[in-house]
Amino acid sequence: MRVLFVASEASPFAKTGGLADVAGALPGALARLGCDVTVVIPAYREAVANAGAHGLPIEPTGMTFGVPLGQLTVEASILRSRLPAKEGSPSVEVLLVANDECFDRPTLYGGPVDYPDNATRFTFFSRAVLELACRQERPFDVIHCHDWQTGLVPAYQKLLYQSWPMVSRARTVMTIHNMAYQGVFWQWDMLLTGLDWKYFNWEQMEFYGQLNLLKTGIVFADAVTTVSPTYAREIQSAPGGCGLEGLLASRSDALSGIVNGIDVDVWNPQTDPHIPRHYAEDSSADGKHAAKVALAARLGHAVPDDRPLIAFVGRLAEQKGVDLVIELLGRLGGTGRAHFVVLGTGNDGIEESLRRMASSFPETIDLVIGFDEGLAHLVQAAADMMLVPSRYEPCGLTQLYAMRYGTIPIVRATGGLVDTVVDTTPDTLRAGTASGFVFEAFDARALEQAVLRALDAHANADVWTSLVQRVMRQDWSWDSSAREYLTLYKGMARG
Ligand code: ADP
Ligand code: GLC
Repeated sequence: MRVLFVASEASPFAKTGGLADVAGALPGALARLGCDVTVVIPAYREAVANAGAHGLPIEPTGMTFGVPLGQLTVEASILRSRLPAKEGSPSVEVLLVANDECFDRPTLYGGPVDYPDNATRFTFFSRAVLELACRQERPFDVIHCHDWQTGLVPAYQKLLYQSWPMVSRARTVMTIHNMAYQGVFWQWDMLLTGLDWKYFNWEQMEFYGQLNLLKTGIVFADAVTTVSPTYAREIQSAPGGCGLEGLLASRSDALSGIVNGIDVDVWNPQTDPHIPRHYAEDSSADGKHAAKVALAARLGHAVPDDRPLIAFVGRLAEQKGVDLVIELLGRLGGTGRAHFVVLGTGNDGIEESLRRMASSFPETIDLVIGFDEGLAHLVQAAADMMLVPSRYEPCGLTQLYAMRYGTIPIVRATGGLVDTVVDTTPDTLRAGTASGFVFEAFDARALEQAVLRALDAHANADVWTSLVQRVMRQDWSWDSSAREYLTLYKGMARG
């Protein structure tokens, strides 16, 4: 099974969120199952720098070609690298599409405001992927695309590349990581795509008068997946579908939800280079204490006291329910019942509100604004509880990393959080299935109740230790989800 895996970010090359973690780990898991996987991403400035920083080879392939983009032909040159090698796994080739004007920029997508030419950049990338695939020596069985940045790929494969033997027989999969980001651009960007205007209609590429790239991918792909079964259901009605619920419901036969896994080598408290003392289930108390000391030193504190440490790590976006966290900090910050640490970056207004809240309770709230991979690992190791109070959450990886580090997740019952965390009740404790604290209503009081339940449980050493050990024993590796993708690929493959 030969698979072309197309994404706009992949760890450790370039990352703004969970998509990168998926695109950095799932290909390796598929390769372990015998798939021949090639990953394609843009050659961002950050991707080239990170390859160097991680000691990964990055070299020109010598392959250069012109990519049709509207009336122009724009040159792409292809670099080659590999995902970090893993013991017992075939190494996965990564091809990077380089064009300095498009990708040699400080950030991936712009920010705080998106780059005004993102439609151009990702139309170029998507078309370059097909041109690149046509120039390979062996045909692809599956082209697996992720999110709006690659939404044109299934359309190109079906509409423009049917006479190219390396791609013509491929089946396309469109994986949706987040319905809230659809890549919606003004209608004249249709000209960039090189596709006939007849496809610019409400059933295919058009969305309220604009061009919608995620919709395009959903319409033209042979199969559509999203990153958890619950989210697959939620997006078939409003508000989860963000306007595309009708389309998704009409494609329900082709739509499935496969829960994300995690890279258990990168996120492993027994080997993590970002934490001071490695630990396993039976040594988590020591490991966590050492991580707390290191974190306190990093944040400029004295050695921490024995209050539970409650963390939040994530994008500061409306999706993540940071407004509930801010209210929670207001309610609990002064009580002395817990210490809090928040690591995130994103929306200016949210950052400002967090700053104000942290300055009201400087003794109990640590705030780090920024994106810091190493610190995210250290916080996961140091914390006792991880807040994931999302408004909606397609899958969520933070709660999975938390569990691997013996950090008990406190999550809202939405999307993938429903599929991955089991609320702690007398029944689930008895049954041995409890793995966190779950609340339903999107309001700060409900979050506070869940946190108070967690704090009560924390005060009972037996209950807490058994919870911590149980979550650390869970297997969230990619193995079983990769098998589900492989089954999907095989079910679609042409005989
Ligand atoms: P999403 O993709 O919606 O942001 P996920 O939970 O799937 O949410 O993945 C988030 C990923 O981004 C995790 O790997 C998390 O550790 C990481 N992350 C988010 N914010 C930060 C930050 N400020 N610094 C470091 N890592 C972060
Ligand atoms: C998106 C979602 C997140 C998911 C990630 C990886 O960013 O917001 O829930 O875990 O993609 O699939």
